[in-house]
Amino acid sequence: MNPTYQVVLITGCSSGIGYELIQRFDRKGYRIIATALPNSLAELESSPAAQSQRITARGLDIADYEATTRLVRETEQSIGSVDILINNAGISYRSTVEDMTDEDEQRQLQVNYLGPMHLIRTCLPEMRRKRYGRIINISSVGGMMAMPTMASYSASKFALEGASESLWYELKPWGIHVSLVRPGFINSLAFTKVQYSRRKAAGESSPEYDSHYENMKTFVEGIMQRTPCTSKDVARRIFKLSRQKRPKLRAAGTPDASLFYFIRRVLPRFVYHRLLYKTLPGVSKWGPGKPQDKS
Ligand SMILES: NC(=O)c1ccc[n+]([C@@H]2O[C@H](COP(=O)([O-])OP(=O)(O)OC[C@H]3O[C@@H](n4cnc5c(N)ncnc54)[C@H](OP(=O)(O)O)[C@@H]3O)[C@@H](O)[C@H]2O)c1
Repeated sequence: MNPTYQVVLITGCSSGIGYELIQRFDRKGYRIIATALPNSLAELESSPAAQSQRITARGLDIADYEATTRLVRETEQSIGSVDILINNAGISYRSTVEDMTDEDEQRQLQVNYLGPMHLIRTCLPEMRRKRYGRIINISSVGGMMAMPTMASYSASKFALEGASESLWYELKPWGIHVSLVRPGFINSLAFTKVQYSRRKAAGESSPEYDSHYENMKTFVEGIMQRTPCTSKDVARRIFKLSRQKRPKLRAAGTPDASLFYFIRRVLPRFVYHRLLYKTLPGVSKWGPGKPQDKS
């Protein structure tokens, strides 16, 4: 199909991968609906990229189902139905399972899994009617490898991966392609947006986990600041995938993601888990103190 007539809906475009993606699709003549959280909409609208006439910036909290449905229906009436949907918006909590609150757990799943699923459901009737469509869900290496202090984030991406795999089978009869892109570490400012649970933010978290937080934070941020891979590089891979005749169900978003995928596949599970545990930063000092006397 000619790009000029294709409508691309991309969520989370105020920064990072989303912001790079809208520029790529714009250069090739697609019509783009670029969403940003209502609080970030003004920033997106005034950005150099959003000045193109082909880009329509809209405010959307992906966890707001009514607003999502409204946006899709309005797009169908004013510009045309969505041909390519890219579920890019995402948040990441850094929290141990014990420190998470139910509300934070809900929010993590709403933004990274439940909201994207609602958006897919809303776009599908028109995609099926046209017998054409592409759905690209931005997952993560965290969607195949879980790490300490990232349980909820990983759970949300594992969920996205499972549902995308089901969708791949369900939608094949209509020629609708479903793909997952897994970025690994990216040299971006995304780490500045990592959220802590309300319990930790209120200073009510368990101090026994302090080493987990400190070591994991330093470890992840250190790699992110050193890696040469940028959001622009990831956007290039996603864009390329969106134009392939037979896109893969799973694609690496960064070179390190291919390496992690290989390690995860070839090592026996018990070796993999022990090895990963041993290489966790400062792990020998985690969980200090002697077991409490129960007598
Ligand atoms: N950066 C990495 O190292 C990395 C690695 C693996 C996977 N990923 C995945 O890649 C995707 C893009 O991340 P990024 O690196 O580009 O990070 P980013 O710069 O933080 O971009 C995330 C975008 O999502 C938006 N967003 C947050 N909550 C939202 C909500 N409730 N509704 C709608 N939009 C919302 C953000 O808006 P605001 O700017 O207004 O907050 C932002 O525009 C995410 O799905 C992330 O999980 C990133």
